[in-house]
Amino acid sequence: MCGVTHNEEGSYDIEDLKLKDAQRVKLVKELLRKLILNKDEIQRVGEAFKKEMANALDEKSSSLQMENTYIPELPDGTEKGKYLALDLGGTNFRVLLLELARGEILREEFKFYHISDEARLGCGIELFDYLAECVKDFMGLEGIPLDAKMPMGFTFSFPMKQHSLHSAELVTWTKSFNCPSVVGRDVVKLLQQSLLKHGMENIEVLCILNDTTGTLVEGARLDKKTRIGMILGTGSNAAFLERAERVHHWEGERHNEKNVIIDIEWGAFGDKGSIDFIRTEYDKEVDNGSLLKRSFTFEKYISGKYLGEVCRVVLKDLCDKRLLFTKASKDLFPAPWKFGTDNVSHIEEDAITGSNTSTIKVLDKFNYKFNVDYDEDDIKVIQYAAALVSYRAALLVSICTAVLLNRMKEKDVTIAVDGSVYKHHPRLKRWVKQLIKELAPEKEFHLMLAEDGSGKGAGLVSAIAERINARNAAADECQKLKQHNITTSPQKHSNGVNGAFHTSDINVYTNGHTNGHH
Ligand code: BGC
Repeated sequence: MCGVTHNEEGSYDIEDLKLKDAQRVKLVKELLRKLILNKDEIQRVGEAFKKEMANALDEKSSSLQMENTYIPELPDGTEKGKYLALDLGGTNFRVLLLELARGEILREEFKFYHISDEARLGCGIELFDYLAECVKDFMGLEGIPLDAKMPMGFTFSFPMKQHSLHSAELVTWTKSFNCPSVVGRDVVKLLQQSLLKHGMENIEVLCILNDTTGTLVEGARLDKKTRIGMILGTGSNAAFLERAERVHHWEGERHNEKNVIIDIEWGAFGDKGSIDFIRTEYDKEVDNGSLLKRSFTFEKYISGKYLGEVCRVVLKDLCDKRLLFTKASKDLFPAPWKFGTDNVSHIEEDAITGSNTSTIKVLDKFNYKFNVDYDEDDIKVIQYAAALVSYRAALLVSICTAVLLNRMKEKDVTIAVDGSVYKHHPRLKRWVKQLIKELAPEKEFHLMLAEDGSGKGAGLVSAIAERINARNAAADECQKLKQHNITTSPQKHSNGVNGAFHTSDINVYTNGHTNGHH
């Protein structure tokens, strides 16, 4: 991995801090220097990520899941059918109905449902029963009879241990969910049981997928060169198309798969201490105050759930050291977790426009009065802190993305991205693009916004799942018959003419059968 163009402090593309008081500049910079990664640290983060990816695939100790999704292919333009989908794990929970034909999404209907704190943090059964109630409500709105035979795709954006396309245990909750009794249980089974309890016994969950997988698949529909799906939103993660021969964990039969989508779960990167050298007291404080302590280390540096809090903790330290808000009452300062990442994005807007208006608007929300509680130099300090926190996130994401690109044999790769931080942070996209270019100079890449991969992807993956199931069932059946022929009638098998089955015959039969419900 090559170095990044850095100034003498190691930062890049961030305006220098200029205040009336030179001593204050010196102190602020000294304090916040720990948020800046130097070249050596950039290199070490990249190496740690590369090693942990390889370890996970080799089933050795790693903080990464590198989960086999059992999805061996991307859309090929034949996807068709009508599918229900659930999207759990983003900002909102949704039930969807998708209609596909010739690989295109012809229709997408959805409804958002609010998930209460009791359901998000309580006993899991309540949560899954609530999901089923929402499906029931949605079916009513769409005029679909409750007993209708409907295939479903389940986007579940949390770390999972997958056993097949339609079976996965929850490894741990992330973001704002925590129903401990669900950890270690098969979430497809839980959903299927709740659907049954609510009278929807004919809904069949064909596949479970992560939002990054959905984004990759939806990205591939839009641009055939897509090989990576990434979410930079409330949480963060990436999935990519890996060569199947590199994937050792494979439950069930293999069917000559050439590739398979791997869900990295990079949010947990560093949970075993491999990047502790970049951890500051600020990060420790954020972690200590988080819902899931000492887990999802990397996500806490980069995602929307945490960036606002990291910034708040940094600003708090500046206040405590009397380098910020010296004139304002301490009571005005936002309480823990009350300074959302949207504020960081707004403050960053001023770096684009060269003004202070957005920062003043943010401070207004917290009742700080310009020229009473703070002055222009306070604004500059706040903008400097928001820029450093944002830039560190962009850099960390870029390091891991560059490692991924360098791992791929393709020279030219499209990266499908979605998520609130990617969409709304005014400078992050540009930084990520610039930094990846410097960190993976031999690769050509294109960052493409692929919105709603968690919804559209669920429909596409369901259609892919049906195709794979039909093909694998045909191949297995064929294999069984071949074996049967070998044991009962070796002659018939060897000449292949006197009544031996042909693969093509079986294909026709099995396809007709499994696709029956469309
Ligand atoms: C989850 C991932 C998910 C990401 C983006 C993380 O917290 O663990 O599974 O892909 O958020 O939603």
